[in-house]
Amino acid sequence: MSVDLFARCRDYDVARAARAAGVYPYYPVFAGPGGPVAELDGRTVIMCGSSDYLGLAADPRVIRAARDAAARYGTSRSGSRMLNGGTPLHAELERELAAFAGLPEALLFPAGYQANVGAIAGLTGRRDAVLVDAEAHASAYDGAGLGPGRALRFRHNAADDLARRLAACPGDAARLVVVDGLYSMSGDACPLPAMITTCRRYGARLLVDDAHGFGVRPLDVTGVDLLTVTFSKALASVGGAVLGPPEVLDYLRHHARPEIFSAVAPPASVAAALAALRIAAAEPWRGERAIAGAARLRAVLGTQGHAVPAGAGPIVALPLPDLASTLAAWRGLLAAGVYVNPVVPPAARCGLRITITAAHTGAHLDAVAAAFAGRVAPPAAR
Ligand SMILES: Cc1ncc(COP(=O)(O)O)c(C=O)c1O
Repeated sequence: MSVDLFARCRDYDVARAARAAGVYPYYPVFAGPGGPVAELDGRTVIMCGSSDYLGLAADPRVIRAARDAAARYGTSRSGSRMLNGGTPLHAELERELAAFAGLPEALLFPAGYQANVGAIAGLTGRRDAVLVDAEAHASAYDGAGLGPGRALRFRHNAADDLARRLAACPGDAARLVVVDGLYSMSGDACPLPAMITTCRRYGARLLVDDAHGFGVRPLDVTGVDLLTVTFSKALASVGGAVLGPPEVLDYLRHHARPEIFSAVAPPASVAAALAALRIAAAEPWRGERAIAGAARLRAVLGTQGHAVPAGAGPIVALPLPDLASTLAAWRGLLAAGVYVNPVVPPAARCGLRITITAAHTGAHLDAVAAAFAGRVAPPAAR
C-alpha cells in the first residue's frame, strides 16, 4: 500500500474552478514587447501590472545591447560562474552597480530571489537569528528558512518591535535584520534611519532588499551593511546582485548555494541590465516621473472616495474587502482595458496592486482613473 504523491494535484481544484468561472488572473500571455500598453487576448490594454518602472524593457538601446551581447558572447555560459565563468560584461555590471549604489562591491546572482536566499542562508549559522519584516518578500523568508539559523518576523516597519525581538536573542547569536527598501505590496518605504539605529544598538547587521526602489529612487546606504537588488524591475532584465564589503562577497562566492549551484545569468540579460543601469543614471527623470504618476493616481483615486495608503514609489496599493470584490474589480478593469495585479490569499490583505512607469503618459493615467471610476466601488458605495 502506498500513497500517490500526485493525488494532491488531482484534488487541487482552486485554479481549475477559477478558470472555469473565468476569474483566473494568473499566467497571462502577452503578445508584443513590454511597454505602457500591451496586447492581451487580441486586445490592447494599459499595462499597470509590470515592474518596468523606468519604461526600459522595450527601449531600443537596451534591446540593442542584449542583441550585441548575444552575438558576441553567445546565448549562455552553460553553467555556474564559479566553474564555467562569466564574461567581461558580468564584471563591468558589478563595478557599475557598486558605483551607482555607493557600496564597495557587487556580486551577481542569477535572480533577485537567489540573491536574497544566497545572502541570508549563506551568511547565517546555526546559532544565528534572522529577523525579517512582516511584509518583506518571500525570498527573504525563504533565505531565513533555508539557513540553519532561527527565522523571526517583526511587525511591518516597527523599529520598536524589532528592538524587542533583538533584545530577546541569546548573547551568542549573530543577528541579521532584513527589510525591503520599498515594499512590493503596500508600496510604502522602510523607515531606514530608525532601523539602522536599532540594528546598531543591538549589534545586528542590516540587509536592505531594494528590488523595487533601485534605479527608481535614490537610497542613502550610510549604515546599510548589505544591499540586494534585482534586474527584473527597473533594469529591464533578469538577474540580481548582493552589494557590500569585499570580504562578505568573497565569503558568499564560496557559501551562497544559489550562486554556486546555478547557471550564471546569460550575457544578453547582463548587457540589458548594464544598458538600463546607465540610462537610469543618466536619466533620473524616469524614476521621478514614475513616482509622480503614482502619486497622481493615488490622489485621483482618493477623490473618487477610495482609501489609498500613502506610498513612496511607483506602486499604488488599493485594499479591497475580500477575494470576491478583488476579482470583480480586476475583471472590471480588464474589461475597461486596464491590466492591474490582483492581490489575493495567501497574501495578508486582498486588493489591487497598480504599478506606474515612466512610459505612462498623462492620457494613460486619465484613462486608468476613468476605468476605476466606473468599475471599482469606493468604501462608501459598498
Ligand atoms: C522585494 C522583492 N525582492 C526580490 C524579488 C525577486 O526578484 P527576481 O524577480 O529578480 O527574482 C522580488 C520580485 O518580485 C521582490 O518583489
